[in-house]
Amino acid sequence: MFIPKSLSRRRAIKMTLASLVGMTTVTTKAAYQDKQIPLLFDSKRKFQVIGQASLKQRAAAKGIIYGAATGRDILVSDAEFADIFVKDCAMLVAENDLKWLALRPTPNTFDFSKGDWLAKFASKHRMLFRGTPLVWDRALPSWFKKTINSENAERLLVEHITRVTKHYAGKIYSWDVVNEAIDVKRSQRRDGLLLTPWLRFVGEDYIDLAFRTAAAADPQAILVYNDRWLDYDTPRDNAQRAAVLQLLERLKSQKTPVHALGIQAHLRAIDSQTRFHPSKLRNFLKDVASLGLKIFITELDVKDQGLPLDIAQRDRIVAAVYEDYLSTVLDEKAVIAVLTWGLSDRYTWLFQLNKRPLLYDSNFHRKSAWNAVARAFEQAPKR
Ligand code: G3I
Repeated sequence: MFIPKSLSRRRAIKMTLASLVGMTTVTTKAAYQDKQIPLLFDSKRKFQVIGQASLKQRAAAKGIIYGAATGRDILVSDAEFADIFVKDCAMLVAENDLKWLALRPTPNTFDFSKGDWLAKFASKHRMLFRGTPLVWDRALPSWFKKTINSENAERLLVEHITRVTKHYAGKIYSWDVVNEAIDVKRSQRRDGLLLTPWLRFVGEDYIDLAFRTAAAADPQAILVYNDRWLDYDTPRDNAQRAAVLQLLERLKSQKTPVHALGIQAHLRAIDSQTRFHPSKLRNFLKDVASLGLKIFITELDVKDQGLPLDIAQRDRIVAAVYEDYLSTVLDEKAVIAVLTWGLSDRYTWLFQLNKRPLLYDSNFHRKSAWNAVARAFEQAPKR
């Protein structure tokens, strides 16, 4: 279990203690001064947008990059989807095609075919290209677990990162170098680091090594530490934010070439009504930015399970979650990119749980959520 040490910022302690205090919700920026305001599920909320500008145009007008995650198989098989993707997105994130499972069919071979197709598609449509992740403990090929050991782990890590980042150097705008290294609930360590094969066989410096290796192979790419459970005022999220901040402070103190924090932001509509505490989140963003780091919202979507079955009401609630979250995080100018984890409900990873987490429905009709994201960009301060 993560225990925040005496951080230079007492915020971690405050956050943990304050998590016992009542929760508030927001619907407008001004309201995030902890005032209790009309519940998120205010059915009178409208999500009007003015003009025909696309999401990427509305974001770019404020110096923000908007993009989404997808895959080569989807873009090849669904031309209609590819069209809306190109229209709205300034960045393409490889949802699965740059993970070990896709890139490493055997211990001695690399398969760049899908990643290369995506890189070409992004370049053809003048989109930035983003890869995730170089180091993670999931989406690993079947040979991995029976191959890695304390003798070869460091070589495996360095070889994979070097080969992949060199291959995409000049084509990739940003990499999640390390993904989900912290899990304050499952970790037995004070620093909250999860005992992944990397920590077990390389040691706790695997994170620093991963970033240094990626920076050496591609000095142009923006190198991101990516994690989740950073959004709400719950004991777990409060502890996760403190642990991630502590990790970033440690990396910066040892001059690790980490350039940004990735906040996944897989939001939960039900928690957004009762556990969203904007000023806590704003303080965390400020703390991260004070380390000289940029911030990417990397996997934004809204789990809508537990919401009313009425589609219009469900969509309005999901839209309110998007607008309130983004109007809070975009107030922090270090947030330079907003990436949704998909664009249409037809291809959401949440298929087994939810039906309507994204900005377009399964028939590619824009939803209130699309308007909500557009409005958040319109309201955001210019970078
Ligand atoms: O492509 C194969 C297909 O050929 C096969 O028939 C099918 C059935 O086994 O599996 C398909 O691969 C699946 C892949 O998604 C593509 O759909 C994998 O089994 C499945 O595990 C994989 O899940 C992905 C998951 O990460 C694990 O890599 C999800 O799509 C993806 O949305 C999810 O994304 C993660 C981020 O990377 C990290 N943050 C959390 C986020 C959600 O879990």
